[in-house]
Amino acid sequence: MGETFCSAVSSSLFYRVQPFCGGPFRVFLSFVLSFVLLSESVNVTYDHRALVIDGARRLLISGSIHYPRSTPEMWPDLIEKSKDGGLDVIETYVFWNLHEPVQGQYDFGGRKDLVRFVKTVAKTGLFVHLRIGPYVCAEWNYGGFPLWLHFIPGIKFRTDNEPFKREMRRFTAKIVDMMKQEMLFASQGGPIILAQIENEYGNVQSHYGSAAKSYVDWAASMAISLDTGVPWVMCQQSDAPDPIINTCNGFYCDQFSPNSAKKPKMWTENWSGWFLSFGGGVPYRPVEDLAFAVARFFQRGGTFQNYYMYHGGTNFGRSSGGPFIATSYDYDAPIDEYGIIRQPKWGHLRDLHKTIKLCEGSLIATDPSYSSLGPNLEAHVYKTETGSCVAFLANIDAVSDAVVTFNGNSYHLPAWSVSILPDCKTVVFNSAQINSQVLKLEARYMTSLVQTSSEAWSSIDEPVGVSKSSAFARDGLLEQINTTADSSDYLWYSISIEITGDEPFLMNKNQAVLHVESLGHVLHAFVNGGMAGRGSGSASNAKIILEKTITLIQGRNTIDLLSATVGLQNYGAFFDEWGAGVTGPVKLKGSNGTADLSSRSWIYQIGLKGEELGLYKGFNKSPLLWSSHSPLAINKPLIWYKTTFDCPDGNAPIALDLTGMGKGEAWVNGQSIGRYWPSYLAPQSGCADSCNYRGAYRADKCARNCGKASQTLYHVPRSFLQRSGNTLVLFEEAGGDPTHISFAKRQLRSLCGHVSELHPPPVDAWSSDGPVGIKSGAVLRLECPYPSQVIASIKFASFGTPVGTCGSFKHGRCRSENALSVVQKACVGMKSCFVSVSSESFGDPCKGLAKSLAVEAACV
Ligand code: GAL
Repeated sequence: MGETFCSAVSSSLFYRVQPFCGGPFRVFLSFVLSFVLLSESVNVTYDHRALVIDGARRLLISGSIHYPRSTPEMWPDLIEKSKDGGLDVIETYVFWNLHEPVQGQYDFGGRKDLVRFVKTVAKTGLFVHLRIGPYVCAEWNYGGFPLWLHFIPGIKFRTDNEPFKREMRRFTAKIVDMMKQEMLFASQGGPIILAQIENEYGNVQSHYGSAAKSYVDWAASMAISLDTGVPWVMCQQSDAPDPIINTCNGFYCDQFSPNSAKKPKMWTENWSGWFLSFGGGVPYRPVEDLAFAVARFFQRGGTFQNYYMYHGGTNFGRSSGGPFIATSYDYDAPIDEYGIIRQPKWGHLRDLHKTIKLCEGSLIATDPSYSSLGPNLEAHVYKTETGSCVAFLANIDAVSDAVVTFNGNSYHLPAWSVSILPDCKTVVFNSAQINSQVLKLEARYMTSLVQTSSEAWSSIDEPVGVSKSSAFARDGLLEQINTTADSSDYLWYSISIEITGDEPFLMNKNQAVLHVESLGHVLHAFVNGGMAGRGSGSASNAKIILEKTITLIQGRNTIDLLSATVGLQNYGAFFDEWGAGVTGPVKLKGSNGTADLSSRSWIYQIGLKGEELGLYKGFNKSPLLWSSHSPLAINKPLIWYKTTFDCPDGNAPIALDLTGMGKGEAWVNGQSIGRYWPSYLAPQSGCADSCNYRGAYRADKCARNCGKASQTLYHVPRSFLQRSGNTLVLFEEAGGDPTHISFAKRQLRSLCGHVSELHPPPVDAWSSDGPVGIKSGAVLRLECPYPSQVIASIKFASFGTPVGTCGSFKHGRCRSENALSVVQKACVGMKSCFVSVSSESFGDPCKGLAKSLAVEAACV
């Protein structure tokens, strides 16, 4: 079997069951899944404190993983890592446009296999929250709506409109029926304990007038009528009618209360980071702040919390929303785009979840009582009748640490942090004090180039302007989405004009300014077959105004405008009507006059010739043939490139580094790995490598990569590959050099830890049975992530006042002389090691000062 799996079923913490290169693994997995044993039917209800599962209130930690943003081969590993991280529930949207691309024709295969995903979660022993929507937002094309919906006569989306409600009900019922047939609701013994209808309608509701309220009420009763046997939620919907639970989405939800004293306080989207846009910096959210937000939520009575996203993944194909949502949907989530655990985020949250679970009994038994410990200092205590006691102590000041007295004991509370005391006495977790290790990963270039010689590449030129027999003429400028129905990103607008030489707009006899206005998202202008100029909008403003001086000839001239969409709008009131493309005006301007071409006759071509020919599949097909003329045409707009390559060795996830390419789409063995756009750089400013986690987080607070390409690495799931003879096809719109494309494999460079003596001991050391509870002081723990690895060397160790971050630690003024030898002795040759962070281990280099231990190690 090892041979058929291409030697890669070996497990690792990083990538446990990722098969080497596709193949029979899929068959094997469905065989396993058919033996999933689902449990007895489970009753799910709720009361004012929590979801009640089989009569018992439950405190639940949940995380979003969207099944089409990874592959079925990755799902078991992602879900296993979620479980190891302390999750109880996996939350996913259902993506209508993926499952019903043509009205009435359903697709649930491969990455779209919702039933298999839900069963995989069940098999791992976790629950599912199924967010059917079917509007989902989610940075997903058109918010999840299929395009055909837009063309139903008389339809109006997300309001009290019969055609819309009919389709929404039909799809929602279809999904519910599918789940029922597979016995997947908890009421049937399956894992689904919760379902969602609509999505954040409350945020836009006021724009839809009085019909909005009747739509909300209709959606609620429609959902209830489907009789799933599990509760329904509506997020960001303060008027959600009973028995629907209204839930909160946001960076913080501790101040939220549901609209009825009978409903529990639930948080369906805690944004673990933020999404990436082409042309933007790479957003991240420090884990100290994320943990603070979660701890505050449980401190103030919450009992269900979901990370959006726990694994973000990849927007394969043309699935990303927009406009301008990037192909990577990494989201700075606890599991990264490639399925690798992100540290210290994953580990610190795991410690938090463990701590909260220690407290579950008290938290669900009662409501918290609040007392102030001073300005911005809050204590919440959960004290049960049986005498157990849990306390959360918060310092919500964004600047100053504080020392507080609680129950007669003194506690140091770092600014913007929460301490959790499962016995009302011992601090087991503080949100600002990270005990978890840091993994420093780097993109390492393996076989470097996909193909080393330019002879290995072939190309086909995409014709400029109209080349398909389906082209048609219309007077005036057409809106793009209504014209293409999103069957392609591309729409050609082509016009012929006669120039006599006497036109008033001509300058210097043969020049004019071409002025084009477009709703977006990208525009390439050609005059008489030559590139005249291009423009693109941005995530904050999709519109384009292009002004270029062009040269015309006497006689017939052709102006060809190629308009491209980069993901359809997914959010906002009436987002479905925002439109795209060259809606004008289009003018020729000169010193003495202007010719407005907008209402003249234009020829339209939907999509590219190469798309029609299926060039992305990589086959040779007449009338155009892949040619491998030497030298290969590079830095040329509108060109298809093709090469073949062997699957890189090993198990590690693979990315293609497309640096050097312009903008387009890439396919591996006919499967689209998404739009690429490495030439779109993030702005020069707005980034911070170290971002102060203290104080309220916003989506634009912390970003990396300013001045650099928003995305250079593009995930190629190993299951897309065969051992050899893989085909890579690129459609390049703007111009690039494919001979520079290389494979990148993410590898561990260093393992680091930085723990202060003031940190609580590891949560795993906690025992509430013993007389003293915690048995040890602060501990630094290191563990090599791959099973076969051991710690080979200690690159840095300092006990005292070291500064810096992983990879750039430096000694401080105060340092113990023996730090390196103590750590070497404890760790070298070991898979994992623990070092006590105390003067007993290292001696005391500076009495009276709080000291910390910083270590950087290498694993082999
Ligand atoms: C929310 C929405 C999600 C997602 C998120 C941002 O408003 O419900 O679907 O779009 O914002 O990532």
